[in-house]
Amino acid sequence: MAENVTILAIESSCDETAASVVVNGREVLSNVISSQIDIHTLYGGVVPEIASRKHTERINQVIRQALSEAGRTFSDLDAIAVTYGPGLVGPLLIGVSEAKALSFATGIPLIGVHHIEGHISANYIAAKDLEPPFVCLVVSGGHTHLVLVRDYGEYEILGRTHDDAAGEAFDKVAREIGLGYPGGPKIDRVSKEGNPQAIHFPRGKVDGSRYDFSFSGMKSAVLNYLNTARMKGEEISVPDVAASFQAAVVDVLVSHAMWAIDEFHLDKFALAGGVASNSALRAAMEEGCRQKKAAFYCPPPILCTDNAAMIGAAAYYDYIRGVRSGFDLNAVPNLKLGER
Ligand code: KG4
Ligand code: ZN
Repeated sequence: MAENVTILAIESSCDETAASVVVNGREVLSNVISSQIDIHTLYGGVVPEIASRKHTERINQVIRQALSEAGRTFSDLDAIAVTYGPGLVGPLLIGVSEAKALSFATGIPLIGVHHIEGHISANYIAAKDLEPPFVCLVVSGGHTHLVLVRDYGEYEILGRTHDDAAGEAFDKVAREIGLGYPGGPKIDRVSKEGNPQAIHFPRGKVDGSRYDFSFSGMKSAVLNYLNTARMKGEEISVPDVAASFQAAVVDVLVSHAMWAIDEFHLDKFALAGGVASNSALRAAMEEGCRQKKAAFYCPPPILCTDNAAMIGAAAYYDYIRGVRSGFDLNAVPNLKLGER
């Protein structure tokens, strides 16, 4: 196996401008994340045009800082990796164009990385001993995928959401109960003061598809509950609504994950994506895995939300398999996992 493969990774698929230097896929020398959250909060969600403009303004500085914090220069690099999908097309194009320009100017090979593959690979950084096969639940603002990771770069999607992503549902419910954007961390926080059994919200099911998810019905159930309570003039306990909704989402996510562990007889399970930092989800998954005698993996919150270190981790396994991208690499907003 190649030794000390040093990769500069760039991530700009949504509202974080990020760059990182990663050695051998698991050792992070720097992980610079410039979040635009303050700006998008003013609009209640990510505004793609503003995100693109901010990426353009910040990307050079973020890359320079990632190299300098790592104590590396371009001459130390074996590859430049960049997220090329899925995500917002404008933001993705900024990262892809930057990476192509740097690769062209320096002659360093270019590797396009799938954003979800990045989220999954954050686990390789957090757990140096983790190797496929394992089951991974990727839950973020844009995605909810239950994935069988057969090998490095070899994925089988067992289930996906038919409507909202788990994080999206958190964000929408948070907005309705007046917690603001981004809602996930806020629901997580107020839920600690609420009773998760106070209100029974339905556990979203998808007919004929055991592993798929549906969160829009759960979100509508919360809205109906709020409307009915307001019409009747009843007092609404925000912590109880938040905790009960969170419990419903966690229940669905954990049960799907446990079925997969059983069906595929796997003894390793990993969480990934922004929602993986949810404290109730982590605790419930950990307990579920303990009962199944499966090892539980979950990256620290800084590696769960969007970052470039995870892109560098995924790129390493592409690099050692000889995967390289050409200068025709383009942003692919709806890139499917396992596609090139
Ligand atoms: O992975 P990520 O940073 O971006 C995407 O690729 O989508 O995930 C962001 C999502 C947001 O929807 C945010 O509300 C959610 O992750 N999130 C959480 C928590 N922290 C972030 N959801 C629930 N609980 C949290 N603690
Ligand atoms: Zn993400």
